[in-house]
Amino acid sequence: MNTTTADRTESDGATSSTETTTGESDERTNAAWREYSFAGDPVLSVADLNVWYDDDHALKDISIDIPEKSVTALIGPSGCGKSTFLRCLNRMNDRIKSCRVEGSVAFNGQDIYADGTNLVELRKRIGMVFQHPNPFPKSIRDNVAYAPRKHGDLDRGLVPRLLGREETEKENELVERCLRDAALWSEVEGRLDDNALGLSGGQQQRLCIARCLAVDPEIILMDEPASALDPIATAKIEDLIEDLAEEYTVVIVTHNMQQAARISDQTAVFLTGGELVEYGDTDQVFENPRSQRVEDYITGKFG
Ligand SMILES: Nc1ncnc2c1ncn2[C@@H]1O[C@H](COP(=O)(O)OP(=O)(O)OP(=O)(O)O)[C@@H](O)[C@H]1O
Ligand SMILES: [Mg+2]
Repeated sequence: MNTTTADRTESDGATSSTETTTGESDERTNAAWREYSFAGDPVLSVADLNVWYDDDHALKDISIDIPEKSVTALIGPSGCGKSTFLRCLNRMNDRIKSCRVEGSVAFNGQDIYADGTNLVELRKRIGMVFQHPNPFPKSIRDNVAYAPRKHGDLDRGLVPRLLGREETEKENELVERCLRDAALWSEVEGRLDDNALGLSGGQQQRLCIARCLAVDPEIILMDEPASALDPIATAKIEDLIEDLAEEYTVVIVTHNMQQAARISDQTAVFLTGGELVEYGDTDQVFENPRSQRVEDYITGKFG
């Protein structure tokens, strides 16, 4: 069994913290609050990550190791950098002009920020689901099969069709498997050719998860995937996330403290100023936080 700690950059412990939001007490952060040991190698290993939007320093010296096949929750008040951090994990921030990233993010030991990284391949391996479901205005089937067709994983173009080598069977199997894995199959199996925009919000979000699964990812990043959904749809997404973690690594941003406590294995708490203040086993973070500010945040004193 290998053990690994979340923070390898500071050995002495304390750093000073000066920025606070209203009601957030001042305290010196401690590297020990981010130490988290787990079995196995990390699937993602982030070291000394700093992010700026122009001159605005949005994330400061983030180092964290994320174990595979588990759920990692990212929590913290609005504007503390959770979405920014999530986008660093598959280089979505590359699309934001003002954004500059320093540091490294190793995915199975390979730095995704190294020159020559194939971003299309990277985003297939590390997929993303957003706050508001964003299915394509196409059929349910087309939504799931779109990327595999586009990437050539399914032969559906004119040439294979003319040659009689169209992979209809393979596509049907893929669509069914992904919709089953996204816990949506039983609700849509009779209407795969209907427009996806006719589905409910919760169904659309599960379709987006199915679409993400169709390219065979290893990691699924989710930014508040249930915040636009009603309690029943939210419960379905939560159950689904727990099931997905048996095969995939899930990293989820949530504002819902109960949700983080219910579904995650480990929790990372970001606070004002773009710092990762505490990281550890979810039960420990919620029941016995090491940082006073984290305790204040979790108990609703600010944020
Ligand atoms: N595209 C952008 N351009 C400029 N600044 C940005 C951009 N995106 C985020 N920021 C800034 O970076 C900081 C972190 O923002 P981020 O969206 O990551 O926070 P968050 O924790 O996800 O907040 P929320 O909980 O409200 O979604 C904020 O100060 C924000 O204003
Ligand atoms: Mg956000």
